[in-house]
Formats: sequence, structure tokens, C-alpha cells
Amino acid sequence: MSRPRHFLTLEALGAEGIERVLARAVELSRLRGSADHPKPLAGKSVALVMEKASTRTRVSFEVGIVELGGHPLALAGRDLQIGRGEPIEDTARVLSRYVHAIVHRTFAHATLERLAAFAAVPVVNALSDSHHPCQLLADLAIVRREHGSLGGGLRVAWIGDGNNVARSLAIGCGKVGMRMAMGTPEGYRFEDEFLDDLRRIVPELDLAVAADPAQAVRGAVAVYTDVWTSMGQEAESEQRRRDFAEYQVNAKLMSRAPKDAIFMHCLPAHRGEEVTDEVIDGPQSVVVRQAGNRMHVQKGILAWMLAAQA
Ligand code: CP
Ligand code: NVA
Repeated sequence: MSRPRHFLTLEALGAEGIERVLARAVELSRLRGSADHPKPLAGKSVALVMEKASTRTRVSFEVGIVELGGHPLALAGRDLQIGRGEPIEDTARVLSRYVHAIVHRTFAHATLERLAAFAAVPVVNALSDSHHPCQLLADLAIVRREHGSLGGGLRVAWIGDGNNVARSLAIGCGKVGMRMAMGTPEGYRFEDEFLDDLRRIVPELDLAVAADPAQAVRGAVAVYTDVWTSMGQEAESEQRRRDFAEYQVNAKLMSRAPKDAIFMHCLPAHRGEEVTDEVIDGPQSVVVRQAGNRMHVQKGILAWMLAAQA
């Protein structure tokens, strides 16, 4: 990619970039509320173009941008002309005349790539049907805080759908030297095209895929799950509920993981489906810490991307 800081992907960020963003996030978290907190976005505006619902991403970006001295504009897709069919390319070119960065949550990943191709300002993926890199960066920081390090062959178990969060987790694990074990039914595993991408982006990734969730959680430092039906898949929810019935993260499944394994979920959760109350509210759960960390990491991302523009 010719402009690596133009479009945030874990691929472009690389292991070194991930380290830099995580280190910046720790520093910004430490300085939060102090007079020494830097304001690298002073005089800059950032558009948050949200074509899907969001609580964590939207609020953490808005507050984070203000704390960095910038001005956030939260824009629901349905309120913009893209909601009436204006091409994303035109939206990208026009917004680039007003704002200094665009944070975009959308459906097809290709829409985000088109926005990034036509935008003259940095673009951050705030979730597409294929990837959720901001989530993953925050999650890596949590694994590091809990285990003191990343890499070294630590294994994360992913239970359930091979979705956007799972894809970003796979790339992130490969970049930092962690292993990933998926407990995922056939039909919901990574498709061949993405497996080819993984072989290209993170050839070193150690990825194991099993139908049995108990096999996946064995020896894992973290057990991670997500909803069975992601945004945009609502028409499949009944079928998915049947297909994932054996993939709930409950006390029995957690008992097959090491005692000190953490439980992770990007949220929002469908309690009683992919996870029980007992697990998500239990002592191994770090889900609220994951959500909280989103803001620090995204501040680190924006500071890193916009510093490159200066
Ligand atoms: N995890 C996450 O991205 O949450 P939101 O959909 O609430 O932004
Ligand atoms: N896989 C979920 C993640 C939400 C943060 C979705 O795309 O709806």
C-alpha cells in the first residue's frame, strides 16, 4: 500500500505499527484528564460515518476525538445522502474538503475500500462485514495487560461464527505471534478467499479449526466469542440459532479452559445465546475492560494516523 497511514488495516499497520499504537494508547490512558494530555487533533474535525448501529465505537471515538482536541461529527448513514443513493466515491471526495479524517462503519468491505480510495484524508475502519480492526487492537492490549505479554505462542480460542471480529483476530494474532484455535461449525468457518489472504498477510499464523468447542478452548489464555447473528444477517437468525446451539460459552465450556483463561466478547452480547450470564458476569470476564479500552486505542490510532499528515 503506497499510503500506509491513509487507510487503517491491521495488514498495513504491521507488528511494529501495532506496538506503536498500543504504546500510545497506554500513554494517553495515563495522561487522561491531566494538563499534559496532548491535543494532536487541535483544529481538526473527524467525520464518523455510521451506516450500522453502534454504541461503543461511536461514543468512544466521539469522546476520544474531543480529548485529543478535535471536533467529531457523528453522522448516521441514513441522514446523509448516501442513504438516498449518493455514490460513496462522491461522499469521500466531498467530506475530504471539510474534515481531516473519516471513521466509517458500513456493510460490504468494498464500500469502505472505495471510500478510502477516493478520500484525500485518513480513513479508519469502524467495522465492516469483513473486519473490525479497532476492536482487535483494543483486545490485544487487554490480553497483554492480563498476561504480561503478547506472542510467545499464547493461544486464543474463538468460539462461534467466523465473522468480522474473528477475521481481525486472526490477522492480529498472526501479526503479534499468537496462535488461534477456532471452535466453529462447518459452513461458518473462514472462506477459502480469506484463508488465501491470511496465508499472504500472516503466513506465520498458527490457526487450528475444530468442530468441537471444547477442543478449541484447551490450553487457551482467552476464550472469545461474539453474536451468532451479526448486523445485516438478521434474516438468518433462526437458522443460525439452530446451527450454533452447541457453541454457547457457558460454565461447562469454560471449565475445559485453563482456570486463569479470560473470557472476551466485543459486545453487544445476546445473553442466553452465545454466552450465559454466569460467564459474561463472572470473574474471568473482561468484556467491560475491552469496551473501555476501545477509546484509548482509538485515540492512539488517530494520533498516529493524523501525525503522519502533519
Ligand atoms: N464492539 C463494538 O464495536 O460495539 P458497537 O457496535 O456498540 O460499536
Ligand atoms: N459481529 C458483530 C460485531 C458487532 C460489534 C456485528 O458485526 O454485528
